[in-house]
Amino acid sequence: MLNSTATIEPENEPENGSDNESQRTTEPASALKVDYVTKEFPVLSGNGTATNESFCVFEEVKFNVRKGEFMSMVGHSGCGKSTLLNMMAGFDKPTRGAIVVDGKEVTGPGLDRMVVFQSFALMPWLTCFENIRVAVRQAYPDWSVDEVKAHTQKYVDTMGLTGTENRRPALLSGGMRQRVGLARAFCVDPKVLLLDEPFAQIDALTRGVIQDELMRMWEAAGATVFMVTHDVDEAILLSDRIALMSNGPNAQLSRIIEVNIPRPRTRAQMIESPQYTRIRNEILKFLISHQKSDLADKV
Ligand SMILES: Nc1ncnc2c1ncn2[C@@H]1O[C@H](COP(=O)(O)OP(=O)(O)OP(=O)(O)O)[C@@H](O)[C@H]1O
Ligand SMILES: [Mg+2]
Repeated sequence: MLNSTATIEPENEPENGSDNESQRTTEPASALKVDYVTKEFPVLSGNGTATNESFCVFEEVKFNVRKGEFMSMVGHSGCGKSTLLNMMAGFDKPTRGAIVVDGKEVTGPGLDRMVVFQSFALMPWLTCFENIRVAVRQAYPDWSVDEVKAHTQKYVDTMGLTGTENRRPALLSGGMRQRVGLARAFCVDPKVLLLDEPFAQIDALTRGVIQDELMRMWEAAGATVFMVTHDVDEAILLSDRIALMSNGPNAQLSRIIEVNIPRPRTRAQMIESPQYTRIRNEILKFLISHQKSDLADKV
């Protein structure tokens, strides 16, 4: 299941994507590179079948996610965030351009990139425990039964799923299913973690606990994270940088904002910080201005 791919170019080529970045002379190595990626889909007819026409979801998107960086993407619904994340995961291919992970072009899925989907994508016939254990077994094929079991249980407990081990997904709440998805992704210690609105279905209280857990795991493991979210506060709390996408079709990467709030971060400290207010206002202004132009097109 691991990626068999060809090396394209050195990892630490200077990045574009924001004005500040082009001024850097020494760039940290990038774990994930989105290299002038354009995605076109066929226009679908009323009954969902593909026509001969195509439309461009986004075009020439270019940015790097540095090794160990937590990067988020924010943009209105339909601008292509999930489409881009699916291509990073290797489930779909760019129409033009390339996605490169650790110097190798992504040509399919691999255990080096774990995904937590917008929809839960659990195996309905397996229990909570078994859904997580499948990933542990795949990632650590040499481990004994007891080692696999102990590791799986650790992530069941970390995600607050203790007591639900034997339930199938249909008997779990939406938030619990999402936590199984997160446990499955974290437990294999991936190089790159791809998160598509991972906390959207989780209640506010649990969300805070799991966001803190994510920050702790990310800092401990040194994983590179790319997260899609609609929650601006979540993006600021967790991210080193936030990419803003304009509206689709033909969406583009508008800009990348540095979140220069010191870590470790807590919500209480964060909302007191002037950087937080500045960044939040910048993102909200961006989203509102794009919403307005969207509505203006329709009247
Ligand atoms: N397989 C497909 N075939 C045709 N069109 C598709 C396909 N997948 C996605 N699209 C279209 O591509 C566009 C981008 O979809 P995508 O799911 O990536 O948006 P998104 O930014 O993740 O939105 P949201 O914030 O609502 O999740 C939409 O117009 C969608 O209808
Ligand atoms: Mg989406």
